[in-house]
Amino acid sequence: MIISRVILKNWRNFRNVDVSLGNRVFIIGPNASGKSNFLDVFRFLRDIVKPGGGLQKAISDRGGVSKIRCLAARRYSDIEIEIELSESSGQNPIGKYAIGVKQQQTGKHLPVLRYERVWRGNELIRERPDKQDNKDNMRLTQTHLEQINANQPFRDIASFFESVLYLHLVPQLLRYPTAFSGPGIPEDPFGRYFLERVAKTPEKTRQSRLNKIEAALRKAVPQLKNLIETKDEMGIPHLEATYEHWRAKGAKQREDQFSDGTLRLLGLLWSLLESDSLLLLEEPELSLNREIVIQLPGLISRLQRQKKRQIILSTHNEDLLSDKGISGQEILFLTPSPEGTKIEPASSIPEFKKLLEGGLTVAEVVMPKVSPKNAYQLALIK
Ligand SMILES: Nc1ncnc2c1ncn2[C@@H]1O[C@H](COP(=O)(O)OP(=O)(O)OP(=O)(O)O)[C@@H](O)[C@H]1O
Ligand SMILES: [Mg+2]
Repeated sequence: MIISRVILKNWRNFRNVDVSLGNRVFIIGPNASGKSNFLDVFRFLRDIVKPGGGLQKAISDRGGVSKIRCLAARRYSDIEIEIELSESSGQNPIGKYAIGVKQQQTGKHLPVLRYERVWRGNELIRERPDKQDNKDNMRLTQTHLEQINANQPFRDIASFFESVLYLHLVPQLLRYPTAFSGPGIPEDPFGRYFLERVAKTPEKTRQSRLNKIEAALRKAVPQLKNLIETKDEMGIPHLEATYEHWRAKGAKQREDQFSDGTLRLLGLLWSLLESDSLLLLEEPELSLNREIVIQLPGLISRLQRQKKRQIILSTHNEDLLSDKGISGQEILFLTPSPEGTKIEPASSIPEFKKLLEGGLTVAEVVMPKVSPKNAYQLALIK
């Protein structure tokens, strides 16, 4: 299943958005244009459905309705999300899920549903508020999506949202998980529990993935061999590899000695192989060498073919977009304005369309519009 269309109203810096998505989506825009905010829509849905989650928590974790609601919102200021789901890119929608959220005017000022609707194909199978909601308003503080006894007819949609995976790996967290106090974030986007995740995977699957990763990593880090998961005397899991050097046998190294790029690539490859759910990648190019970054789009689409999963990634990187296989339709271009950020596929922006048809790569066409105009002024700061 993939998310084939997203309609947003008053979601953070997006006042009004309606975009189609394919199997592979590149979110491009200047700093603070809303790339992470766009990805957060899918994490929000996941937060509603996940165990221990729910609408109230998903909103309070984000600082409340007032933090989420677009600052450019006008009188009609409900936050609205509509998600269309399809089997694959270009196919008819198999279902739709939509919610509108506002804040109670009185009492505890809790977030409440203005509506919740679910469609199967074109048939509306759930519409709230329903009779029971009208009898008891408090019911509107919870979605049916998050309730097992209410979501049975659309459990597949709930499970799809629950399985969304977000990755923005921070190498230092992965290396030194115990050095950071406080509870971890359950979905673990920054990789603090990455090693535990690897260790919990059944041995056969784990080693088969590590072998594939080792083969792919070898292009980036040719000295690395025999990548395995191992436990220390305290039972704490580690990744270990042999680094070849002038000594005949090479040296064993663990993750705390791996480079940032090695760790990020390792985490990225593991996540790509891990499941077939929607994967959100935040700037996957960070810490990676140009030659590797260039190959990422190809690598992603090869692995996608096996897993048939949707991947939505945000990037700033010209090298990543220089792959000639990336089409203008796969690029969602963000343009900030005082009335909220616009999102459009690069292929439907006339100025870009002409240049793309003229044979320029997506990077050549789009990146000049993303770079900050006055960046040179940074050099003037003393
Ligand atoms: N409720 C809101 N209404 C309007 N704007 C908001 C709202 N919440 C956050 N923003 C704005 O969204 C911007 C941040 O967006 P985001 O973090 O998604 O940017 P980004 O494109 O990921 O940037 P970067 O490339 O730096 O990671 C900030 O400028 C912030 O002020
Ligand atoms: Mg961001």
